[in-house]
Amino acid sequence: MKHIHISELKPGMRVVNPGLNWLAHPYLYMDDTVIESEEVVQKLLEEGYQEVYIDPSRSEQVPPPAPMMAEDQSIVGLLGASSVKARFPIGEEMLFATSVHDDSVKYVRGFMRDIRSGKLNMAPAAAILERIVDSLERNADALISLSRLRRTDSYTYAHCVNVAVLTALSAQHQGKSRDQVFAYGMAGLFHDLGKSLIPPAVLNAPRKLNKVERALMKEHPRKGYEQLLKTPGIRTEVLQGVLYHHEKYNGSGYPQGLTGNEVPEIGFAVGVADIYDAMTSKRVYKEALFPHRALSIMYKMSDKELPSNVLIRFIRMMGVYPVGSVVEMNDGSRGVVSMSNPAQPVKPVVSLVRDPLGEPMPMQVCDLAAANCGLEIRRCIEPEAANIDPARVLALSSS
Ligand SMILES: [Fe+2]
Repeated sequence: MKHIHISELKPGMRVVNPGLNWLAHPYLYMDDTVIESEEVVQKLLEEGYQEVYIDPSRSEQVPPPAPMMAEDQSIVGLLGASSVKARFPIGEEMLFATSVHDDSVKYVRGFMRDIRSGKLNMAPAAAILERIVDSLERNADALISLSRLRRTDSYTYAHCVNVAVLTALSAQHQGKSRDQVFAYGMAGLFHDLGKSLIPPAVLNAPRKLNKVERALMKEHPRKGYEQLLKTPGIRTEVLQGVLYHHEKYNGSGYPQGLTGNEVPEIGFAVGVADIYDAMTSKRVYKEALFPHRALSIMYKMSDKELPSNVLIRFIRMMGVYPVGSVVEMNDGSRGVVSMSNPAQPVKPVVSLVRDPLGEPMPMQVCDLAAANCGLEIRRCIEPEAANIDPARVLALSSS
């Protein structure tokens, strides 16, 4: 039995029921069946399924092994020089970024609660966004690493902040003005505002939603948009980002089912950030995917769910090993990626903190691109498995 993402399903594959409790795995498709066509896969994706178990021995076609992105030429080939350079040392920026991230999560928690009683306090949002954009300009790696590492008790609130960070950064990478970067971040921050207006019995239902309930959930972009429309001075891009973040390039999205260029650019910008953060986040019913794995899967959505240029830009922005990734070297030593290398994405700077025997060692900062380094990354590992706290290592890194 092999566990794969639903987008990797191919006609001819045999789906098997792993016997798991569907209450605990609401996004796992479990019907024992042979996939007949690409349309079936598309339909399952549209219905919100994310994962599936297949039996390779009873399948006509088996999926390729999960690639490490370093070996996945289809994606590594897309990477190029980043247009945005870090200005501040990561160690200095981590402290500031941590406080911005925490304050942003607190703000989101507040407005998601208040909105139910008809109040929406937009005033602090501008100051929050200013601080996020400032931090991204000084050293984007700090907030980007926190978006994966910051553990909070609530995925929903942290997710809104992470999407704000990623969406603002994507605008910055495209060379947009600070004003536009600000608006993109704001759209990310408020993208799921409408979920607070969905009845809790549906929003938090510990079971698969029925057709009527799914239709109600699909109204959340419109509900958020209508709520924000009442805010004086709200920018059009922000409204568009919220309304269109679930529209898809091939028309399979919602709420309007727009296709191709009918979807405003900011809708896709929020959408791609939303998908990436969901895939790389740990939830009660699924493990987090490593960034390179999520990007590999997302690349397969090219010109289907998302336009290829949007995906390629996003993959270039994130790189192979985003700062904060915990990695194991070819000699068994372990550390944290503390600076990316856009020119050679598989050779970032790594702060090593565990020796080949797994014992703590004084931090050693290695530039893998340096001629005398001799080390290379073997694989990504979970911080818990390596007994490493990436945020702490980054805060101590002077690179
Ligand atoms: Fe959403």
